[in-house]
Amino acid sequence: MSKKNMKGIILAGGSGTRLLPLTKVTSKQLLPIYDRPMIHYPLETLRKAGIIDILFIVAPDHAGDFLKYLGSGKEFNCHFSYEIQDKAQGIAQAFQIGEDFIADDNVTLILGDNLFEDDFTQAIQSFESGGRIFAKKVSDPERFGVVEFDQDNRATSIEEKPGHPKSDYCVTGLYIYDDTVVDKVRKLDFSDRGELEITDLNNLYLNEGTLDVAFVKGAWFDTGTFESMFAATEFAREKSFKNK
Ligand code: TTP
Repeated sequence: MSKKNMKGIILAGGSGTRLLPLTKVTSKQLLPIYDRPMIHYPLETLRKAGIIDILFIVAPDHAGDFLKYLGSGKEFNCHFSYEIQDKAQGIAQAFQIGEDFIADDNVTLILGDNLFEDDFTQAIQSFESGGRIFAKKVSDPERFGVVEFDQDNRATSIEEKPGHPKSDYCVTGLYIYDDTVVDKVRKLDFSDRGELEITDLNNLYLNEGTLDVAFVKGAWFDTGTFESMFAATEFAREKSFKNK
């Protein structure tokens, strides 16, 4: 059997309430991180890893501005498609919206407000089946999905925003899944906050014994707050000067 193609989804909907009033006039993912709109960074992460077929999922407001910046993908040597998420009903909904796009290929999802320093080429190109997620040690795990590990470093549980985190390792916004993801999302119920939860999806793979939890080695920013946007901007500026 030949290896499956890897497609990419960049999820750039959401409400961006923590960045009000800036998000009154534009989408969070179009706000600047140093000299580029935020969405440029996750796009580069996928491109660097060799993914060229990319679906952008955006909220209805300001959808045209994404098209203006990104276009057909030609400028980036990629092929871009677009879908609208009418309401912010969860990260896992990306696989419902993207069902036809995924078809029977593998898929890498990256959140439109996540900035990674690492190069994921190896992790993405070596992927065959199941799920692969990326954990990072943080000082405030209670804000994220938290992975618990056993003595052999095997993941044993993932909890969404737990009151008492079982570890300091959170799940970052990069996820690789095989094409069973679409069926798995069909099995999910909406959570109490009205979302199809990515943590519930990861637990389906974990319980099936097919979830690989890798680690983020370099810097990682979830740029959804003013403080993290500022830190990411400083990081991007520093990197950009080093590369000049
Ligand atoms: P969040 O930062 O958790 O949510 P948000 O963007 O709505 O912001 P806030 O909490 O400040 O209101 O979302 C993480 C990323 O996932 C972000 O890039 C937006 C995206 N997202 C969607 O596109 N659709 C969704 O339904 C959700 C929950 C998130």
